[in-house]
Order: sequence, then structure tokens, then C-alpha cells
Amino acid sequence: MEYRGYDSAGIAIDGSNDIESPHSKVALLRKAGKVSVLSDFIKESADDLDMDMEYNIHCGIAHTRWATHGSPRDVNSHPHRSNDKNEFLVVHNGIITNYREIKEYLEKKGHKFESETDTEVIAKLTQHIHDRYPDFSFRQLVETVIQQLEGAFALAFKSSRFPGQLVASRRGSPLLVGIKSNSRLQTNHFPVSFSKDAGWKWGDEKQTDGRRFMSNHATHLRDESSFVETPNNILDLSIDSRDVCNLPVPVDESQRRLSAFMNSLKNAVRSSNGSAKLEISDSTTAVRPFDSADWEVEYFVASDAAAIIEHTKQVLFLEDDDVAFVEDGALTIHRISRHADNGEQKREVQLLEMELQEIMKGSYKTYMQKEIFEQPDSVVNTMRGRLLPSRQVVLGGIKEYLPDIKRCRRLIMVACGTSFHSAIACRQILEELSELPVVVELASDFLDRETPIFRDDVCLFISQSGETADTLMALRYCKPRGALTIGVTNTVGSSICRESHCGIHINAGPEIGVASTKAYTSQILSLLMFALTLSDDRISMATRREEIIDALNDLPNLIREVLKLDDKVHEIAQQIYKEKSLLIMGRGFNFATCLEGALKIKELSYMHCEGIMSGELKHGPLAMVDEFLSICMVVCNDHVYKKSLNALQQVVARKGAPIIIADNSVPEGDLAGMKHILRVPKTVDCVQNILTVIPLQLLSYHIAELNGANVDRPRNLAKSVTVE
Ligand code: BG6
Repeated sequence: MEYRGYDSAGIAIDGSNDIESPHSKVALLRKAGKVSVLSDFIKESADDLDMDMEYNIHCGIAHTRWATHGSPRDVNSHPHRSNDKNEFLVVHNGIITNYREIKEYLEKKGHKFESETDTEVIAKLTQHIHDRYPDFSFRQLVETVIQQLEGAFALAFKSSRFPGQLVASRRGSPLLVGIKSNSRLQTNHFPVSFSKDAGWKWGDEKQTDGRRFMSNHATHLRDESSFVETPNNILDLSIDSRDVCNLPVPVDESQRRLSAFMNSLKNAVRSSNGSAKLEISDSTTAVRPFDSADWEVEYFVASDAAAIIEHTKQVLFLEDDDVAFVEDGALTIHRISRHADNGEQKREVQLLEMELQEIMKGSYKTYMQKEIFEQPDSVVNTMRGRLLPSRQVVLGGIKEYLPDIKRCRRLIMVACGTSFHSAIACRQILEELSELPVVVELASDFLDRETPIFRDDVCLFISQSGETADTLMALRYCKPRGALTIGVTNTVGSSICRESHCGIHINAGPEIGVASTKAYTSQILSLLMFALTLSDDRISMATRREEIIDALNDLPNLIREVLKLDDKVHEIAQQIYKEKSLLIMGRGFNFATCLEGALKIKELSYMHCEGIMSGELKHGPLAMVDEFLSICMVVCNDHVYKKSLNALQQVVARKGAPIIIADNSVPEGDLAGMKHILRVPKTVDCVQNILTVIPLQLLSYHIAELNGANVDRPRNLAKSVTVE
């Protein structure tokens, strides 16, 4: 997960060097800084850890943390622990919004906190509930804990009390389970089993039934013992709580559990290759790779498929509030049942279409450089099977919804960052070809405004990762209001992809560099094809559609032409990389190019950069223009060419010396005297902004490199912001 952006890392593994009790101790190793710092620290700790120790069954958790609560320090790094015996450990991606109340309550209960993080309350809370209910299974503990949490989380738990077991859960933040085994899985889906739910919301103290005790502190404590394990694992809240309280709590339940586990290991049938085959009771929900005698299995829990692709392609995406439980080599999926959950549920095992080398840098220095130069191929992947030789455009993922979409009241595109700019880039062509009103919204602002949404609205949620919290929340805002929701993502199985009614997969391939490049050009392409499908029955637009389709068929070669400008762009970068500020302007289809170019410069080189509509120049920004300000102007021979030239003359009149990005049909004369001119091939106006943005991707890349910045992992940024 390194590419996701982080500032500290840590692991928790079984740390006992005693072969007789290999799981009796958990080693916690965590460091602020990069993974390389942690790996050095682990090497230094080799004396304490017998690196040759072999395990029949082992569970480890690790995390690269991006600081939200508490600065990047060793003690704030994950995993977080419940006490200095490392009884319960947890890694967490997301933000717990009610952590202060829980922390205050637990401190009152005598728990001592060592970090400033929100995550530590989860480990302490697990310990607190375990201390009170030592007979709870690891899964039940986590089920109870997550019900107390508000905010977003992807969690993985490990415990010395439950050796060889792993529990993971999510709400809001993405989480998947990868399954690697030396034999075939007995099924391609995992049934979901339900535990009863207390059925009340946080703060709704009146009708408490003991599960959610945090809100009213001690008052609830009296009730919290109303959980009783029933034969089929379904928690039944109807049984009178009192009899549990009177039950003598076994002195060291976990010791009993540990010895039971060790005995089962000892009596494991040694298979021919020496790996253990455990005789496990046959529960209906537990799935194991059974089609061969000596099965071995590994389960990987991760926020993103890219983290596990080198191990397996078999993945299962968890839904919000799912609890994945691994015990004795078996994986089971559980949920606290809610009324909306009625009815059979299962989780499909999906096969990732991603290849390992796709997430390798290959001969490139950085992922970003690779992804910029991959664009001639990524656009082909985006068009494959959609732009047909018959000049038809088919988007299979939305086909059945086309009639509704064509009849809708308006098209609303909602996104963040670069994805938002792809919406701006395509607003005009969508308006033109669909003849529908098109609204473009920044997801965070859209949510803040609680914009009115109607049943006949069509809302597109554009997100490379498919996990950006603001965009996902906007989807969850529009769907219950009856709007048709379309997910435009680059990540199969992502939340936006799974929760929207239908979708367009942009198919740009995995994008590792935090600053989005190839996904941006594929997003524009996908939205262009969307506009073409909405006008496929318009005779009046046939010529226009054909010229666009021809331009798209030429696009890979046109992009290759633009990439040849790399050296020239590098020369320009060498002249401006020390500048404190850069102003980028353009208009029409290239307004988006300026916004996106400015974002790239900001993201990568930390230089202040603003993208403006050149039509706005005389309404303010012109005041900044003089011979010292670095300026870049996009001037293309399209329907706003004359106005773009006006803006150029206004800048030159104030001694501005702009870098020009122009298509190769712009007369030399109109650019006379310009020092730096980057010529891109001329193409159709609504496709031109795919070509004009690439010199700005390269410029931001070279300026960042020249400033020694970390191009793939710019400071303070993450590839996907899964917290609001
Ligand atoms: C930011 C990324 O976290 O999220 C940007 O650094 C990206 O590159 C933005 O454009 C939106 O992400 P997504 O995945 O929703 O397109």
C-alpha cells in the first residue's frame, strides 16, 4: 500500500521463539517514516525474533498510516494495542468520529492511552469488552466493538488470546479479502451469517438494550450483559441477561482456548508435504479449499487489490459492516443483521483482471512517468470493445438504462480533484450531443449544500479509485432520492462501482502514482463515449459524431506525437522550476486542461499554480501579469480561437512571456515572439483537451523531479481519500 501515501508503518506478528508455544507472544514493531525504516528496525530486532521459526498457522497484521490524529511518531503508528501485553492489536484505515467520548469513558474505566490517535480506542475497547465477557469469541468481540464506532473504518484485528485467528471489518473505507490456496476453493461464494442487532442508533439512550453502552457511560453498564451465545452462532438478545451475570467467569478462558487450539494442532494429521490438515467441525458457513487432501490456504486482507495481486487474484470485496473471520483455515463472513438485511446474502469470489507487471514500474523511473507514457495504450483499453468498427459506440455497463438516461431531467456529474476536471472537460460536449442540461459538482460542496435531487435526475460519480469518501457519500445522498446513479471508475469492485445502479469502467489499468494522469485522459474518453451513446439516434448529429469517432480512432497515435515533446518540456521546466508561482489559462474545451495542469503542478512540485478561464483575465488576474510572472497559455484553433488570441495579446501587452501550448494548425504568425511553443497535433475540439493536458503532465513531472520531490508519493497526499 506504499503508493497510497503514508508517514509511518508497523507490523504485529507472533513473537514467541518457543516452538512449544509459538503463539504465546505477539511482537509489535512500528516506526515513523517509510517502510524501509521499519524493515531496518526489524533487522535490528533480529535478536529478539527467531527469523527461522516455522509456523503451521500464523496471523500477522501491518499498516502504512496516513496521519489524521496525532503527528507521525512511533507511538502513533499502527498497529495499536490494548495493553503492554499486546493482547489485542488493530490496524485501521479511516477516522473514528466518536473516539473522544469512547476514550473518556475508557479512561474512566482505568484504561491508559499511549498515543494521540483515534485508532487506539478500538484496541482498548476490544480489551474492555473482552475483560467483561471473556467467553465472547473473537468475532463477537469485533462485532460488538464496531457497533460502538462512528465514522469510517477498515480494520484488521489480531490477538494473543485468539491465536491463529484474524477478524476484519469495514464501514466506508474499502476492504477486500484475497484467498490463496494450493487447491481449488469448494465454492465461489461465501454465505453471510447474521447476528442479531440491538436495533437502536447512537445517542438513542431511551430504549437501550445493552449493546451500545458507550453513550451513557456507566448507566448502560448494568445492561450490557444481555448477550448469550446460541447453538447456531446467532446472538440472541431475548434471553434474560441476568443469568449471564451470575455465570462464573472461567479464570482464564483464553488459556483454555489456546490449549484447545494447540491440541488440535498436535493431533493434526501430518500430510505428505508436512503441512497440517486440521479436522474441523463442518459448519455450513465456513469455507475451506477442500478439493484436495493436503490443502494450505493464505488469506490476505487489504484496502486495495494492488497490494495482494502478487499473491492471488481470488478476491472477495467486503460490504459496509461485514465482519470477515478467519479461524482454523476457514473464512466466514458475518453481519449484525439489520431490517434492511433480510434475506439470503453472499459474497462473490471475484477474479482480478489485473496483471502483476501492470503495477510494476518496468523500465520507468517512477510510476507517474510510466503512467504518462502508457496513455497511448490506456486509451486503447478504454475504447476496446466500445468503439466498434461499425462506428457504433456501445457502453455495456449502462446499455439497459439508456432510455431512462435519454429521458432524464438533467445530467449531474459529481467528483473530486482530477476526476472533477474530467467532468469539466466533457460538460460542453455532453450538453451538445445530449441536448440535456449538464451540471458539474464538486462532491464536498454538493454535500455541504444538500442539493435538491429528483427522481428523474441522472447522476454520474466519477472516481479513479471508486473509494473517495466525498464522492461515495454524494452517491449515497442521491440514490435514496430516486436518482439513477452511474459509477465512472477505474477500480472493479470499488464501493462506487458496487453501489451505483450501473457504470462505466474506464479501464485505464492500475494507477499507482498519487497524481492521476492516464486515468484523467481515460475519464475524458469514457465521458465522450457516453455523450456519443446518448446521441446515437440523432440524424442531425451524425456528421459531428463521425468526426469525433474518427478523431478517437487516431487518438493513440496523436498522443504518441505529444509525448515526443518530453525533452522540450524538460528544457522549459529547467527554466521555471524555481518559480514560486505559475498562472495557466485557456478557454472552451481547454479550460479543464488549465485546471488540471494547475492541480498537477500543485500536487507534485508544491509550487502555487492557478488555472483560470482566460475569459476571466480582465476581471482580475490580469493585474498579476508582468514580465516576472510565469504564465502558460493554451491556444487552440477551435470555436473560441479568436478570444484565446485576445487573451494572449492582453498578456503580451503587459510584458507577459507565456509558454504556449497550441495545436499545430495555429498560424506561426499568431504566436510570433513567443519564446516557448509546444505544438500538439490538431484534432476535433472536444478531443483536443486530451492532447493539450499531456505537456502539462510532463511539465509538472519535470519541475517536481528538478525540485527533488517524491513524484509518486507527494507529501501530504493520498491516492484515495477514504475519509470525509
Ligand atoms: C486525491 C488524489 O486523493 O483524490 C487525486 O490525490 C484524485 O489524484 C482525487 O484526483 C480524486 O480521487 P478519485 O479516486 O475519486 O478519482
